[in-house]
Amino acid sequence: MTPSEYKAEYARLRSLAEEGLSRLPCGGEREPELADMMRYSLLAGGKRLRPVLVLAAAELCGGRVEDALPFALALECIHTYSLIHDDLPCMDNDDLRRGRPTSHKVYGEAPALLAGDALLNYAFELMLSYDCPIDPVRRIAAAREIAEAAGMFGMIGGQMADITDRTDTPERLAEMCRKKTGALIRGAVRAGCAAAGGSDSILAALTAYGEGIGLAFQMVDDVLDVIGDSAALGKNVGSDAKEQKNTYATLFGVDGCTARAKEVTDGAVAALDGLPGSDFLAELAREMLTRLY
Ligand code: IPE
Ligand code: IPE
Ligand code: MG
Ligand code: MG
Ligand code: MG
Repeated sequence: MTPSEYKAEYARLRSLAEEGLSRLPCGGEREPELADMMRYSLLAGGKRLRPVLVLAAAELCGGRVEDALPFALALECIHTYSLIHDDLPCMDNDDLRRGRPTSHKVYGEAPALLAGDALLNYAFELMLSYDCPIDPVRRIAAAREIAEAAGMFGMIGGQMADITDRTDTPERLAEMCRKKTGALIRGAVRAGCAAAGGSDSILAALTAYGEGIGLAFQMVDDVLDVIGDSAALGKNVGSDAKEQKNTYATLFGVDGCTARAKEVTDGAVAALDGLPGSDFLAELAREMLTRLY
């Protein structure tokens, strides 16, 4: 796949996600304040990596994007809620996200907390809505992937490890990153596969791929927090140092961390090993290594 083919494919999947997100939350006029806060964070840009992964995995498994879309949108709602909460003063205390003042800076802490909660619950409303087009067994499997990835054994467990500083050795740091960031990325490809009824062998390959790119994604995020450009990132740099966080960048240095991210990415690409239709995912893994935002 050439770079321009890759770009076009990412843009196609991303625009499907954007179009779906632009209509959320349905019925928001009944709770306009909450709906405004949800949309403020949801529609502020962002790479839309997780929904793109859901849709790409579903297509790789022979499914239709429209069937996987509710899960893609739900995952972006959950990711966005995790960012709102991550930025709160009691967590990372950041005031810029997706190029905008953070939710709590605009609306206050308590409303921002509730906007995050509302996005989390709205994700389940989307996945369990009556007009979800796919068969109930697949729907439950896909929703369960997302619930697990977001919960105590996934993203929230990782955020807990982050705030309690259980990150002082490479092993513990990797464990924290696999959960706080890797879980939603691994969950994205697994949910897409589940929604499309992909085989066990494809699921295993996608799982190994998702674990690899999820870990590499956080390694690159840690490097960008040191050497990135705030305007491009849409968030402040130096946040980890300010909060005295142990990160891949503090543990291995920028160069060591970059080298490790490449190794992990090579492993993720190898896990796809000739899987038909996996060129896009392989290229995406490589592109995420050199991303600037
Ligand atoms: C930021 O995620 C938080 C991490 C998990 C490192 P992204 O870098 O995917 O943020 P957006 O969605 O593009 O804003
Ligand atoms: C956040 O990790 C992971 C989440 C679950 C939100 P970071 O705290 O490093 O993410 P950024 O750098 O604020 O986007
Ligand atoms: Mg954090
Ligand atoms: Mg943060
Ligand atoms: Mg970070």
